[in-house]
Amino acid sequence: MKNLLYALAWIGGLGSVVSRSAGYQQAENLPSIDSTISEKYDLDSTVLSISTVASNLNATWDMAWGPDNWIWFTDQDGKVSRLNPNTGQIIELLQIRDYYRKRLGLMSMVLHPDFKIHPQVFINYSHIQSDSSIVSRLVRYTYDGKRLTSPLLLYQIPGYLGHNGSRLVISKDRKILWATGDLKHKETVQNPNFPNGKVLRLNLDGTIPKDNPYPGSPVWSMGFRVPQGLAYTGNGNLFVAEHGDATDDEVNQVTKGASYGWPDIAGFCDLPDEQGHCPDSAVAPVKAWTPTIAPAGMDYYNGTIPEWKNALLLTTLKDQSLRVLLLDVKQEKVVSESIVFSGKFGRLRDVCVSPTGDIYISTSNRDWNPPANFLVKADDRIIRISRSGLIPKHKRMAKEQSHEESSDAASLYQSYCQSCHKEDGRGVAGSFPSLVSSSRLSGEKSTLIRFLLKGSQSPSGEAMPAFSFLSDTQLAAVSSYVRDKFAKGASEVSAYEVTEVRKAN
Ligand code: HEC
Repeated sequence: MKNLLYALAWIGGLGSVVSRSAGYQQAENLPSIDSTISEKYDLDSTVLSISTVASNLNATWDMAWGPDNWIWFTDQDGKVSRLNPNTGQIIELLQIRDYYRKRLGLMSMVLHPDFKIHPQVFINYSHIQSDSSIVSRLVRYTYDGKRLTSPLLLYQIPGYLGHNGSRLVISKDRKILWATGDLKHKETVQNPNFPNGKVLRLNLDGTIPKDNPYPGSPVWSMGFRVPQGLAYTGNGNLFVAEHGDATDDEVNQVTKGASYGWPDIAGFCDLPDEQGHCPDSAVAPVKAWTPTIAPAGMDYYNGTIPEWKNALLLTTLKDQSLRVLLLDVKQEKVVSESIVFSGKFGRLRDVCVSPTGDIYISTSNRDWNPPANFLVKADDRIIRISRSGLIPKHKRMAKEQSHEESSDAASLYQSYCQSCHKEDGRGVAGSFPSLVSSSRLSGEKSTLIRFLLKGSQSPSGEAMPAFSFLSDTQLAAVSSYVRDKFAKGASEVSAYEVTEVRKAN
């Protein structure tokens, strides 16, 4: 029954948008440059200059460089604005009323590539219908020189509180590509009759292109979990970045009709129960991460910072860093990765490159899953990174650029548990339980081990991932760590005990 309702909610078609107040608390925009960040940052040979361009935003999800040389951006609270990157002036273009923000809200946006002839903006947001079902809307607005007006609903698919994706891009042949999340409906991700866990492809009027791989369907490729990054490289290759479950965040090259494995395969096809699915399906990722980093917006860079030329720039939420993924000449493979700004600005949601090679990143510290250091003063922000000079040769030094796998208990907790249960173990009310004085945590060890190995679905619908992929030593270390830290006095868990529970199950 649930599935039937879900299928019925997938309706495409044209129509006008009805307004309805969503009533979410809004942040105020301060139209002046905040000077809390203004500093230098050294790469191998280049000095970067970093400055805050806008502040007091509200989880800025998407930024696009406009034809007017302003940054057009969306905030999760339904606002679309223009930002003058030189003066910090912000002009509001639109306040959507019918968005639904429990966790998400207004998400992605893309501008028409022929904006001078077609001053159109395509945006995607969550909406709740009168029957309480959540949908994800693709709506086209027209810029009248002052405001975004004349909304036209181009396409609508089922939505959910989370796991919606999303990201939008427009191809050279003027199709809109839309990365959608699995909506926690894993069973339909590999089914082309459903729009979840896909890259969808539509004409700019919302109709379905004739050369899509499944006739009459918007599906272009499938097998994604929660994609929030979508970007073309200089030579026109399309890449998508997605959130994994307990393991394996991924970047994939998107091609017509291909499948990328989820939910049968996470990351590379390397585990025993994944291998049955390998030969015929599933394109391997160009990059995967375990522990997960929660990748969000991504853009291609070929600007004036020499260390970062020909790279995908990828923002991360959980890891709070910018990943620089250098590509090979064909722009098909990732040849190296460097990590910058770790923990410096909090969660990073999107990146945007200016024609002169400056980079803008947006923070997302006011979203539903705030970081432990929430809120940094003046969050959320848009921050500019630009090349300011060269480091003298004698001072150049290589920087530490990679995380090693570790069995150190504190870093295991940080990598695998903290994103939900938080640094202080107190979780997020209504979503992730507090570990402090949890009887499950302090109780019988074999029950706890079995719980951690198998994972669990809470009554609120949130999932506790299965941690069977950790080694016995790692699982013992992290269990002992949380028992010591949050259930004072509870005894240590040994690797031997984990081995025994694994054997018995
Ligand atoms: C993706 C979010 C997420 C991550 C990551 C996560 N958990 Fe959980 N955890 C949950 C949820 C949701 C529950 C509630 C499950 C339920 O009620 O069945 C939970 C419950 C628990 C409980 C029981 C708490 C109680 O009293 O009910 C313990 C103990 C626990 N987690 C430990 C861990 C440890 C240790 C890690 C890291 C190895 C971890 N969790 C990682 C989401 C998460």
